Amino acid sequence: MITERNGWFFLSTAHSSYIMRISSLGHMEHIHYGGYIPASAEGTFWIQGPDDLRLGDGTYYDEDHQHSFLGRMLCEYSTPGKGDTRESALIVEYGNGLITLDLLHQSHRIYPGKDYDILPRVSASDAETLEIVLRDAVLPVFATLRYTVYKEEDIILRSAEIRNECDEDIMLRTVSSVMLDLPDSEWDLISFDGAWARERYENRRALCPGVISVDSKLGFTSSEHNSLLFLARPDADDSHGEAIAVNQIYSGNHLERVEVSPFGFCRVLSSINPFGFGWKLGNGESFRSPEAILSYSSSGLDSLSYNLHRFAVKYIENSIYKDKIRPIAINNWEATYFDFNEKKLMDLAVKAESAGIELFVLDDGWYGRRSDDTRGLGDWVVNRKKLPGGLDGFVRGIHDLGMKAGIWVEPEMVSMDSALYETHPDWMVAIPGRKPSPGRHQYLLDLSRPEVVDYLFSAMSEVFSSGVDYVKWDANRNMSDYFTSSSAVKWQGEFFHRYILGLYSLLDRLTKAFPSILFEFCASGGNRFDLGALSFSPQGWTSDNTDAMSRIRIQHGTFRGYPLSSVSNHVTASPNHQSLRITGLEDRFGVACFGILGYELDLGKLSEEELGVIKEQIAFYKEHRKTLQYGAFRHLPSSDGAVFWMAESDDEMIVLEYQDRNMVNTGRHRRLRIPHADPASLYSVQRREKHVFKEDLGDLWESYSAVSHEPYSITVSGHVLCSAGVALPPLFMGRGFEPSTRILNDNGSDLYVIRKVR
Ligand code: DGJ
Repeated sequence: MITERNGWFFLSTAHSSYIMRISSLGHMEHIHYGGYIPASAEGTFWIQGPDDLRLGDGTYYDEDHQHSFLGRMLCEYSTPGKGDTRESALIVEYGNGLITLDLLHQSHRIYPGKDYDILPRVSASDAETLEIVLRDAVLPVFATLRYTVYKEEDIILRSAEIRNECDEDIMLRTVSSVMLDLPDSEWDLISFDGAWARERYENRRALCPGVISVDSKLGFTSSEHNSLLFLARPDADDSHGEAIAVNQIYSGNHLERVEVSPFGFCRVLSSINPFGFGWKLGNGESFRSPEAILSYSSSGLDSLSYNLHRFAVKYIENSIYKDKIRPIAINNWEATYFDFNEKKLMDLAVKAESAGIELFVLDDGWYGRRSDDTRGLGDWVVNRKKLPGGLDGFVRGIHDLGMKAGIWVEPEMVSMDSALYETHPDWMVAIPGRKPSPGRHQYLLDLSRPEVVDYLFSAMSEVFSSGVDYVKWDANRNMSDYFTSSSAVKWQGEFFHRYILGLYSLLDRLTKAFPSILFEFCASGGNRFDLGALSFSPQGWTSDNTDAMSRIRIQHGTFRGYPLSSVSNHVTASPNHQSLRITGLEDRFGVACFGILGYELDLGKLSEEELGVIKEQIAFYKEHRKTLQYGAFRHLPSSDGAVFWMAESDDEMIVLEYQDRNMVNTGRHRRLRIPHADPASLYSVQRREKHVFKEDLGDLWESYSAVSHEPYSITVSGHVLCSAGVALPPLFMGRGFEPSTRILNDNGSDLYVIRKVR
């Protein structure tokens, strides 16, 4: 809900308030973002109080306002040159390199929904928007700040649009989607960082004076730093305390900055990365920043994530699959890599189908000259030596098994060894006169050129018309040799953003033309995990690293900002193809089932016993899929070296207990505690019956088999679960087997199903 009163703006969600006002000088002054304060509350004036500062060496606004220091104000959207020397939200170059701007309130309006449409598309059916137009004190340069308020989800969607009405061109150097000034700096900054195969590891540090930034200059969101950022009070944890989240709805270069000023204020900025960016605006032209979201919670990081998750599913994802149950996939990549033919694939599909798998995904290598990763990208025509019946024939074969059929594509790329490069060498991103640098032996196509987007639309339409039900959209290199030959581009500083706009227009056209296809984004694993990508494809390949121990960190960081239903995980072979770590089949499943489950291994190499176990895993996943894909994700208190994750729906809670190391004889029971359990209810807690393989026990197999093992199933009051927790049965520790002894190896996991019985 948005209220305006005497130049004060109150943006209220169910549990938060965002307050700002027009200052006596006409600047937009930020007042508060945090806990809920109704617009009717007495005394909001005293949150910031009057302009009555007297500063030693500060630049004040003018002689008539000697107590107005922009550098000491909480500002809404800061520009350089009038006393605020903190990082600017907007930097515009004009004249012969001038950068001073002074943005003053000109007008505002409040209206239901959202009356502009940009890609990626974020809907706003039951939201409300405040639009504030600012104008420079001298030049006709305008900034329109937009705030769309989603009450139930505690989300504020923000963006800025810059318009030039000067006769001369102006150059945008920095345009932020969000600027947020906070009155103190008692916050920790949490970012999600890494590299290929270790994406979105959570890093937390205290703020201190100066600027901390995380960014991507890779052209894509990147696995180096995600655009998601949390600020958390130092005492805030998963279930307690104040925290704020910011995330852009964008798939290109981004920059997040947090500045603690000499006076202890904290400024948060989230923008398109100014690195290599320059956007010329002629008279009458405007530029829209990507949209970004802000969320606040006073109940800890999980509840903040819950806001982000609900918002993503309801308003960002556009696919018809956004809230639908997703199929379990078998992907042939780690089963065959490039070495496959139709028989091999069909054998894998038959085995997968008999285990209950629903979707067969044909990965890289099915087209053109693609016999390895040095060639073939760009030639999206089936290789009939591998698939004699063509793609349609293959898809029919999969459909005849009763499965859905999926295909891998990497449309944005080209190999020099390809027919596409031979025909259109100029479509490749390369600077005339310089040799372009490869990544995985491949190059980018220039998606800023409309003719390249048109070609890709028709090439992909051809592929998708084979009847596929699912598409994995990959992109396996970062950007280099920044240059576009597009005639629409006025300045090479537009290159990065134009590319992303080209990509979005291609995805928009394809997802509209093939609305029944389920898309999954991928970029060298998780190099493109962002809300922009999610707007076109409701799930993403989280990481090429499928090792359970690594995945605990990768999925944890990913769940902070992205819903379970977007996080795609596969059970793969052991030893793992990335880490060489050996992990039990059941334990690989335990971690992979939190999100969208798939399998990616040669089922033909598995024993009947292992195939039987996979069958049982799939039956369990199907029974609890609604919770594992769409439940609320929570961390439960860790205990005795184990991590506990929960997915919770109205009907049930599924809990994962995971330990990376088996510590022998700790002398304690590990506890399962659910702090938010309803004290007035009665719960049943059941452990999923895990299969134990002879090989896991070696010499101990005989003594293990001699005991009849008890299933674990208890009934317990919510009082017990929330206040004390229950002691889980002891782990095996070298003292023989009792009926209740649990087998939990290194990288071991157990799953529990918890239901309210009364
Ligand atoms: C990178 C992806 O992350 C993998 O899953 C696989 O699709 C390969 N590309 C294929 O080249």
